[in-house]
Amino acid sequence: RRFFSEQGQLSGKKVLVTAGGTVERIDPVRFLTNDSSGKMGYAIAETARDMGAEVTLIAGKATAPVPRGVKVVSIESAHDMMKAVLERLADADVVIKAAAVADYRPAEQARQKIKKKSEEMTLTLVKNPDILQTIGSMKTTQFVVGFAAETERIDEYAMDKLQRKNCDLLVANDVTQEGAGFGTDTNVVRIYDKNGLVQALPVMTKQGVARELLNLVAERIGRGEG
Ligand code: CTP
Ligand code: CA
Repeated sequence: RRFFSEQGQLSGKKVLVTAGGTVERIDPVRFLTNDSSGKMGYAIAETARDMGAEVTLIAGKATAPVPRGVKVVSIESAHDMMKAVLERLADADVVIKAAAVADYRPAEQARQKIKKKSEEMTLTLVKNPDILQTIGSMKTTQFVVGFAAETERIDEYAMDKLQRKNCDLLVANDVTQEGAGFGTDTNVVRIYDKNGLVQALPVMTKQGVARELLNLVAERIGRGEG
């Protein structure tokens, strides 16, 4: 009974998780990326698996070990991630967007290594598509969870992202806090829904955060939300 009420809370559910940082190519030997370790998203994938879900992980650049028993699709750029997610969206019950997607990419990807020439060089960047916002605008029955990394005005920015991107839940972390953010094993998050703050969690391991978040997701999809 306990097994069904806890471990099996997501059994039969298809959960799509994005994790890690995207890699935006400048030329064949250079790229732009960020400090994402993939740990938060990987912990979510692992925990969803333990709760009985069928998990697909769309993974960018990450240092965390790949969890076993989940299907991993490796991608580089935001464009690749968008494509990989959209291909699987119709089939998903839950989509969790923990990836650190680059906001901009080089306007051009040089096919050959760029040679050094003048004393100054300018790299022009263009905006990437917003994957979460695209999912939010297309979603039918999917339960969508977004993330937000903030350094100030966390409640205000988090609620703005949740509304703009049409998320069912949004997990915000204040990356200036001790024990939160990129590369750490712990996180400090605040979880919101469309009515406002749902949970402010103390510093806990990323596995602990994953468990709390997925409990909320399971409870809400059990009530037919999404
Ligand atoms: N996200 C996305 N596609 C992008 C940028 C962000 O899907 N091109 C997603 C992230 O995966 C995350 C959420 O949007 O789930 C919020 O990311 P964040 O960087 O905090 O927000 P932005 O909307 O990019 O705003 P800003 O960086 O200016 O705060
Ligand atoms: Ca961003």
